[in-house]
Amino acid sequence: MDEYYKVQDIVNGYSVIKIIGEGRYGIAYLAENDKNEKCVIKQLKSDMLEKNREKLFYEEENLQRLNSPNFPKFISKFHEGNKEGYLLEYIDGKIFEEILVQDRYEFSKNEIYQIGSQLLDLVEILHDGNIVHRDIRPPNVILKQNKELALIDFGLSRIMNKKRYVKEIDYWYTGDFLIHLYYSSYKETDTEERPWFEELDLTSEEEIFLKKLLGIEKNYQNIDEIRSQLEKIKTTNLS
Ligand SMILES: Nc1ncnc2c1ncn2[C@@H]1O[C@H](COP(=O)(O)OP(=O)(O)O)[C@@H](O)[C@H]1O
Ligand SMILES: [Mg+2]
Repeated sequence: MDEYYKVQDIVNGYSVIKIIGEGRYGIAYLAENDKNEKCVIKQLKSDMLEKNREKLFYEEENLQRLNSPNFPKFISKFHEGNKEGYLLEYIDGKIFEEILVQDRYEFSKNEIYQIGSQLLDLVEILHDGNIVHRDIRPPNVILKQNKELALIDFGLSRIMNKKRYVKEIDYWYTGDFLIHLYYSSYKETDTEERPWFEELDLTSEEEIFLKKLLGIEKNYQNIDEIRSQLEKIKTTNLS
């Protein structure tokens, strides 16, 4: 059983405010130091530490290699008794999961293109640094106060290689993420299940774009190719 931190417990100088997430791998708390700087404390679950210790530190390792305002900065690690984990910079904003599920916000096509190209910029930074994220989903992407995107949760991220940890995994997640945004304005008309590319109101260019990201049609070779396709979709849909 994991021992949890309580409100006002201090970890590496940060005082716990509340739990903001809990998954299979760990517990995430919001905390703040006496300069009012916020951080996220990620406490790793003890059964995972026992079984998969070596796999739990990729997030730390990969975040330490990145230094960009669009990824949380690594602050420090802690190990107190059986409580172990690390502190990350808190990114102020809202996760897309909340925007979609709680707010039921309907994204316009222009917003989807905008978000798509920002997401590609972030994926490019990662891939240039030889990192594949492998979990680009609505709970792991934050819309910051300044409307930029930030990518969090590097728990499944790995150093890229040619066999298992290939860049196409992130292309797939990017496509799936955008499909979630397209669905935000979808109104169900009949009860019959149809595939996404029939349900959604997509131009043939958009359909091919998403299918290529998902690998249903021949994959893109690189981010530049994806970006220029998105630019083309943007300009044709605006004219
Ligand atoms: N650096 C961060 N800044 C802001 N919120 C965060 C940050 N890290 C995590 N969170 C919040 O905590 C939740 C869980 O953290 P996450 O890193 O995704 O771990 P996991 O999904 O493995 O539980 C996220 O969905 C997000 O709401
Ligand atoms: Mg997550």
